[in-house]
Amino acid sequence: MCGIMGYVGPREAAPIVVDGLRRLEYRGYDSAGIAVHDGTALTVTKTEGKLARLAGLLDEHPVAGRSGIGHTRWATHGAPSDRNAHPHTDPGGEVVVVHNGIIENFLSLRETLAAAGAEFASETDTEVLAHLIALEYDGDLLEAVRRAVGMAEGAYALVAMCRQEPGRMVAVRMISPLVVGIGDGEMFLASDVPAILHHTRDIVVIDNGEIVDITADGWKIEKLDGTPVERDRLEITWDAEQAERGGYPHFMLKEIFEQANATTETLSGRLLEDGRVVLEDVHFPPGFVAGLDKIWITACGTAYHAGLVGKELFERLLRIPTEVGYAHELRYSDPIIQGTTLTLAISQSGETADTLAAAGLAKERGSRLLALTNVVGSTLSRESTDVLYTRAGPEIAVASTKAYLTMLVGEYLLALAIGRERGVLDPAIDATLVAGLRGIPAKIGEALAAEEQAVVLAGRFAGRDDVYFIGRGLDHAVAVEGSLKMKEISYVHSEAMPAGELKHGTLALVTEGTPVVVVITQGDVYDKTVSAIQEVKARGAFVLAVAYEDDEQVAKHADEVLRIPRVPDVLSPLVSIIPLQLLAYHVAAARGHDIDQPRNLAKSVTVE
Ligand code: G6P
Repeated sequence: MCGIMGYVGPREAAPIVVDGLRRLEYRGYDSAGIAVHDGTALTVTKTEGKLARLAGLLDEHPVAGRSGIGHTRWATHGAPSDRNAHPHTDPGGEVVVVHNGIIENFLSLRETLAAAGAEFASETDTEVLAHLIALEYDGDLLEAVRRAVGMAEGAYALVAMCRQEPGRMVAVRMISPLVVGIGDGEMFLASDVPAILHHTRDIVVIDNGEIVDITADGWKIEKLDGTPVERDRLEITWDAEQAERGGYPHFMLKEIFEQANATTETLSGRLLEDGRVVLEDVHFPPGFVAGLDKIWITACGTAYHAGLVGKELFERLLRIPTEVGYAHELRYSDPIIQGTTLTLAISQSGETADTLAAAGLAKERGSRLLALTNVVGSTLSRESTDVLYTRAGPEIAVASTKAYLTMLVGEYLLALAIGRERGVLDPAIDATLVAGLRGIPAKIGEALAAEEQAVVLAGRFAGRDDVYFIGRGLDHAVAVEGSLKMKEISYVHSEAMPAGELKHGTLALVTEGTPVVVVITQGDVYDKTVSAIQEVKARGAFVLAVAYEDDEQVAKHADEVLRIPRVPDVLSPLVSIIPLQLLAYHVAAARGHDIDQPRNLAKSVTVE
């Protein structure tokens, strides 16, 4: 996820573009840059670091010009650095491009260009687009962009300008968002409405597979095949602050609703049409996977809970013994780790001090270190031999949601890759995973429909002091994360445990009306979980079940049911967590809490 901004009109472009980028910084902030056209030449200014650094550079060396494009980056290809910052140009500096998203076939495009003698100034997929557009250019930027994107595959949005046509911008949307703002004799273009809202409320939304041609006087939208598109304008009524959150009251809710897209991004270019799995930054040496005798997962907080799902998957699907350890415990322990161990360090930020220390210990002991992280160029990614980026985009709310879900997606991909290489994956399971993962973004979309019910149920939970979460196997792993969500933002005490453990102590706390949330999706232990429901019901508990939409049994046992779409049991965590996130959110909202910044907590804990 990155932020794109463009301007063409009678005013100086640079300050308008930089100001727009500032309002898009929530989409990424590891580097930033702009390109401005002064009527004869294009000038690019870009730097690693936050936007303030770019603004400082522009104060020292101002650039004049009435059209410009800019970018605030959240790295996916190539670490954050000056040279990987956008905009990118072709070698002749004729075409300049900013881009949000992923060009899946960029490596093969790059190889073809390199074979023809092209030299690249960065490691990004974007630069390939600049080369392609320049090669295709014969006096009409619109046609050059159209031909170039015809060669690219992926989910992205891009904007291009060229030296020979000042005052013109051409943009394409392939999944990643793009809006046009219509001013009085001036036009704006951005990834999201907040960037342009204080200039105009008159907006045109670009749809997937469309190309838009923009000058100061107007805009024209076509499908990529050239069919003209008529699009109504929208009048935006949100205020600027609301708009930054996409109209949602909190970033947490916005991020919950971004999960289908985030999952699509995580899978993009990794689970291919033909079912192959390509993990671009994971390069196990020959024989390593065959000789692997242990997977050691280390993490903290929500990332640790993602690890609990990983353990279930790796042991069940790969039959490789897997341990999950809190990083703050493991760093002071004497773990049994060696060259035949794969250490999987999971961290949204890639900067959690304890996780870094535990990962360092694993490396010292000769383990191969694989980072599963959301932040390209983070310390963890740099210190690891292999990396799997989650591509959830920046997560602003302290309570992690989309980062968690994309960590799980990463673990499923890893299970497929390792299972195939070891030859241990049952072909039927393999096919189930591939088909199931492909369909998961749509299922996540369906699961989000639980929100309406979560709002009503939240009223029942908001006045309680304690909530219990139970489940078995994968359901237990999800229950633990659901419980953490509840406590960290609603401040209601909550505890999660395997359903069978309840009777060994916690049952003493269950009295009339005690809320117990039961995750019940696993067919092989279904009846066992029903027994646990009966145990708590017998003590007067109020039972809320999270169950499949076609589960006709559960309503006989539970007081309320939050329904999730049917998926193969092995994939259920990818949907069953969603109603729990929504429930926690709405309980916290009902209690009037500062949801995005809960008391005493921090997004990233970089001290011990
Ligand atoms: C903090 C955050 C949690 C997060 C944990 C680990 O405690 O509040 O939401 O899960 O750190 O963070 P990491 O960046 O390593 O995933």
